[in-house]
Amino acid sequence: MNKASAALLFLFLGLWLGTGCRHEAQEPVDPCASGTTPLQLDLPAYAPPPVIPADNPLTVEGVALGRRLYYDTLLSLNGPYQGFACASCHHQDKAFTVPTAGTNVLSHANLGWSTHFLWNGGVEGTLEDVMRFEVEEFFQVDIQALRARPEYPALFRQAFGTCSITAREVAMALAQWMRRITSFNSRFDQYLRYEGTLSPQELSGMNLFLTEAGDCFHCHSLPLMTDNAFHNIGLDSIFSGTGVGRYAVTGNPFDLGAFKTPTLRNIAQTAPYMHDGRFQTLEEVLAFYSGGVHHSPSLDPIMTKPGTGLTLGLTPQQKADLVAFLHTLTDEDFLTDPALGSPF
Ligand code: HEC
Ligand code: HEC
Repeated sequence: MNKASAALLFLFLGLWLGTGCRHEAQEPVDPCASGTTPLQLDLPAYAPPPVIPADNPLTVEGVALGRRLYYDTLLSLNGPYQGFACASCHHQDKAFTVPTAGTNVLSHANLGWSTHFLWNGGVEGTLEDVMRFEVEEFFQVDIQALRARPEYPALFRQAFGTCSITAREVAMALAQWMRRITSFNSRFDQYLRYEGTLSPQELSGMNLFLTEAGDCFHCHSLPLMTDNAFHNIGLDSIFSGTGVGRYAVTGNPFDLGAFKTPTLRNIAQTAPYMHDGRFQTLEEVLAFYSGGVHHSPSLDPIMTKPGTGLTLGLTPQQKADLVAFLHTLTDEDFLTDPALGSPF
């Protein structure tokens, strides 16, 4: 390069950079602008597309903020659950449940596919809607406390481009985090992907589960292991209090005693079982399905054999095989993944 062309190049660069600077100076920088990186969920080919509203796409920053809020007791500073974080009742190593008396804690595995939340489906819509309920009604989050902290305003600005935190953004961040809580690496998943094998007993249990012999698949449908619907499976024949289930929401007598089908993913980790935690073990659950179903007008017809009114009547071997299969739904990665644990 000779001297003249070098000078020309510098002149050109100078002009170009100069206009660049002038251009930026003309448009004032928005102090509340977000700085987000899109996040793609790592899902197997057989997973249906999750429900993600257009106005709350997954971002690295949104998920990180939601995770922090989920593990922060600041959320319950002044509400009815003082000193609690979400994670106080939703432990990762128990698939985000906790053994408790009374209303059983629901797992958080794969809630990104749900359209109804809580055992009776009392909240309908997206994760944003149920998080709004958690923030405003259940926890009664003191937004002022979040605004007053040194770190949260900047994290909310980054994730949502807002300088004023409201319940809406708190719910949006938590919803993004909940969508990130996915479980698709159980031994059963590995079997489905030809990455692993199951024992003869586990395969026998799988066959019972997936055929009319056990009939579980009608409601605990693959691959989420739930149909995300409501059924009265015959735990009782008389219903009162919260035991009326979905009826409390719809007022429809056919919904008496009907509850949300829980996912069976990680079920070996989430004892006790059923909405009221009445069964302590999977063996007790299988004894119920086999011979303990109570009749009532709202009993789901799938629970009895057509025409006979009889329940499954499984042999001890069949029950043991089904329990063995349920254990293959445990996803060790999910239960121990540091990315799903506390950021503190
Ligand atoms: C005091 C214990 C407790 C705390 C704290 C708690 N939860 Fe829960 N959570 C439960 C129980 C119990 C249920 C089931 C309630 C029902 O169905 O009536 C539940 C249900 C849920 C559900 C519905 C799941 C489904 O399958 O429909 C979501 C989502 C959820 N919790 C998220 C959260 C978040 C987020 C927080 C923090 C803001 C939180 N929970 C704090 C006990 C708790
Ligand atoms: C008609 C639909 C239906 C069928 C068929 C069905 N389930 Fe369920 N299952 C449910 C519902 C709904 C619940 C929650 C009921 C409640 O708590 O009131 C449930 C609860 C469970 C639970 C406890 C879950 C928890 O988180 O507490 C297990 C375990 C279970 N079912 C396993 C099975 C097995 C194994 C079969 C087959 C033998 C089966 N289910 C057949 C709908 C069904």
